Amino acid sequence: MEAIVQVMESTIGARDPYTVGHQRRVTQIACAIGAEMGLSSEQLRELRVASSLHDLGKVAVPLDILSKPGKLTDLEFSLIKTHPQVAYDILKPLKLPEQISQIILQHHERLDGSGYPLGLKGKDLLLEARILGVADVVEAMCSHRPYRPALGLDQALEELVRHRGTIYDPEVVDVCLKLYDEAGAPVPGLVPALDRRSQPVPSHISPQMLHRNREARWTREKVSDFRQWLRTFPFQSRFVLHSATASVVAFFFFLSTGSH
Ligand SMILES: [Fe+2]
Repeated sequence: MEAIVQVMESTIGARDPYTVGHQRRVTQIACAIGAEMGLSSEQLRELRVASSLHDLGKVAVPLDILSKPGKLTDLEFSLIKTHPQVAYDILKPLKLPEQISQIILQHHERLDGSGYPLGLKGKDLLLEARILGVADVVEAMCSHRPYRPALGLDQALEELVRHRGTIYDPEVVDVCLKLYDEAGAPVPGLVPALDRRSQPVPSHISPQMLHRNREARWTREKVSDFRQWLRTFPFQSRFVLHSATASVVAFFFFLSTGSH
């Protein structure tokens, strides 16, 4: 089994080194969550092998699409969405335990049925696939991508909290949050993702892109702070405040149009 993983890793790495690094970090995170949830050693072994190969199917996606700096078209995204099925089909002749193939096939399925390729729901998803899905999201959001700089651990954990119980398995999310919360005392497997926050920005991320990203985040935070602050007012006061703001905007609008 180890030999199969190594051969597959080398094959993927020759074409797309990022995916190999991603799979290794995801494996560490997924196994740390699985161990904390009390999975048996056999389940952990299957989770480890599946995580190490989960994005194997990306060998069938053109590199231009995988490393495209901008937004993907619907057609490009539909190609990306084939990768779990492609990995399943590639591995089929090796007659791996069905559990491993299923974890790989299901790693983009989501609790509410919004995932792919099959749109499985709830308990139809293997627990190991639900663990792998969470680990995958955390690692991906903590990593630099050609189309965006790393979003960071805080945003990754926020994403889990926001969709806990709808997209992501609530128990898996809780365990993941607990592990990261305790990561001040190093937790095996979770530290690499945490360390990535201080890694140098790769050359394909331009300073302008970083600046835009920081500006957008700053604006989002300010708008959310302002909304939070507004909620502290009773409804009538909010109405008066909104009316006053609208009047000021209207006043300046008429002032500017009147000057022509
Ligand atoms: Fe994937």
